[in-house]
Amino acid sequence: MSVVSARLEPLSLCVISAPELLEKGQPWADFFKCPLNPPEPQNFFFHFHVEADHVYVRDRENRHLEIDFDKNHLDYQRKGHRGKSELVAKALGVAKGYRRVLDLSVGLAVDSVFLTQLGFQVTGVERSPVLYALLKEAFARTQKDYLKSYQLYFADSLSFLKEHKGQLDIDCIYFDPMYPHKKKSALPKQEMVVFRDLVGHDEDAAEVLKEALTWPVQRVVVKRPIHAEELLPGVRHSYEGKVVRYDTYVVG
Ligand SMILES: C[S@@+](CC[C@H](N)C(=O)[O-])C[C@H]1O[C@@H](n2cnc3c(N)ncnc32)[C@H](O)[C@@H]1O
Repeated sequence: MSVVSARLEPLSLCVISAPELLEKGQPWADFFKCPLNPPEPQNFFFHFHVEADHVYVRDRENRHLEIDFDKNHLDYQRKGHRGKSELVAKALGVAKGYRRVLDLSVGLAVDSVFLTQLGFQVTGVERSPVLYALLKEAFARTQKDYLKSYQLYFADSLSFLKEHKGQLDIDCIYFDPMYPHKKKSALPKQEMVVFRDLVGHDEDAAEVLKEALTWPVQRVVVKRPIHAEELLPGVRHSYEGKVVRYDTYVVG
């Protein structure tokens, strides 16, 4: 897993860890450039808790967000999937043998993890420092062998795409930016609030897609709510489900 470059925005954040876990808490406080166990933690909106066997974030209203690939809380171990017939697999060109995917918006990695289950090799990019930290710990702890080779970068996808153009062995790019009007989510309401407060609105999504479309890949796939407008014109084909669709741009 690598840190490239991403915005470390001044979040109202502190790290909380027990005295015997300072060795684990301090590196995250350094990474976030925020205090560790401050004298008045109530002054910080988000608390990043480091415990012996897991980490999680809590906001001032006591809402909680954690990533654990083995607990299946967010349906990480999706049962009964249709393998290569899954819409996302078709959209990414599984029938043509495309397997190496760059996910520009890892988030909680629900999609990334599903793609690895479907047999894709995924490299992911996430720019929210707190999401990145939750993901990094979750990848380090998981017992799922198919997640061990996942490559995670802490970076803004726009800079990442500019810096790494032509340098990665990638067949397709996958992008699922936040959609401002989206009402439904896989996340329970409380967690959704924390998630949205942490990541914001992804207002630069069209710019990221524009850059992705300059990459030497076979396809770029954008996930959208079913009735949302296209992120950019030029969609070659849409793979439509009940609530989402996958807009496919053919680059090469
Ligand atoms: C809608 S969520 C993605 C959910 C994800 N597909 C999943 O299955 O959990 C969008 C995520 O992408 C990240 N993101 C959006 N634009 C990004 C960019 N330009 N660079 C890096 N991360 C980005 C956001 O921080 C957020 O975590």
